[in-house]
Amino acid sequence: MIDKIKDYIGEAQSFSTENKEELEAFRIKFLGKKGVLNDFFAEFKKVPNDQKKEFGQVVNALKNAAEEKVKSIVEALESKEETKGVFGDLTRAAEPVIIGSRHPISIVKNQIIDIFANIGFNVSEGPEIEDDWHNFTALNLPEYHPARDMQDTFFIQTNPDVLLRTHTSSVQVRYMENHKPPIRTISPGRVFRNEAISSRSHCIFHQVEGLYIDKDVSFADLKQTLLYFTKEMFGKSKIRLRPSYFPFTEPSAEIDIYWGLKTETDYRITKGTGWLEIGGCGMVDPNVLKNCDINPDEYNGFAFGMGVERIAMLLYQIGDIRMFYENDVRFLEQFKANI
Ligand code: DAH
Repeated sequence: MIDKIKDYIGEAQSFSTENKEELEAFRIKFLGKKGVLNDFFAEFKKVPNDQKKEFGQVVNALKNAAEEKVKSIVEALESKEETKGVFGDLTRAAEPVIIGSRHPISIVKNQIIDIFANIGFNVSEGPEIEDDWHNFTALNLPEYHPARDMQDTFFIQTNPDVLLRTHTSSVQVRYMENHKPPIRTISPGRVFRNEAISSRSHCIFHQVEGLYIDKDVSFADLKQTLLYFTKEMFGKSKIRLRPSYFPFTEPSAEIDIYWGLKTETDYRITKGTGWLEIGGCGMVDPNVLKNCDINPDEYNGFAFGMGVERIAMLLYQIGDIRMFYENDVRFLEQFKANI
């Protein structure tokens, strides 16, 4: 009999389950009214006196073993359920993470930065609220210069010396005031013009300015730099430098890229010509160098300024510039793949 009880102890101790029904069956078998333990307790009377002590001890050991087993399994199951409540099913596949996307202007701006960084240009920035000197005067646009009218300016309050920069060329001046040649820098940023808003123009847009100052820089250097850029940016390098005028460069040119006329958007953006003006450029006017304390007899260089929206519109076939500023998530979500 004692051996039988000891077998039961072994059975109770080695029992394990994660299933509530199995646990209940175990409990009934050992601790239930008609369970093993009660049977043994009933036997107790019949046990000879000299064996009662040992019998009692073994039965008690079985009782403890069974009770402890039930208790520990109940605890384990409960803690599992709690975990389930807090974390859900830990084996379930993860929820998809909804990530944001960069704005197309940022994507294109970063691409431009990367392309010029590869040929040694660093990045510089300047303030959006400018003074007259950096936006106009130092760039060879003195007061009453008629070319000031080319850029309809937002002035701040009644002080004509404080304005929203009309171009990132102001950063050229700031950079040259603080750095001596050789200079190779690009300055991306937001600019402001008091212009009527339409599908092709906006009062807020973005430019990237480029400035290269060293000894014996030639127009051919400028042209090669622009060819390199368009090849990297668009995979094409058919460009046209149209003679133009900017007060801060001499000679000056307008940069056109040949895009072609494959889609309706191409027609719309290029006004049916296949060519799109993406910016201006030229050899930095000696007056600008002088205004920034750089000796024009020793140094010269080139500069360019490009519109970021124009480039983004071409690349992504966006027919209306206003799309960039409306924050419509249906538009913005389309750029998720581009980091
Ligand atoms: N600042 C000019 C504009 O906004 C663009 C430009 C033209 C920048 C020629 C330059 C340049 O640096 O050399 O229209």
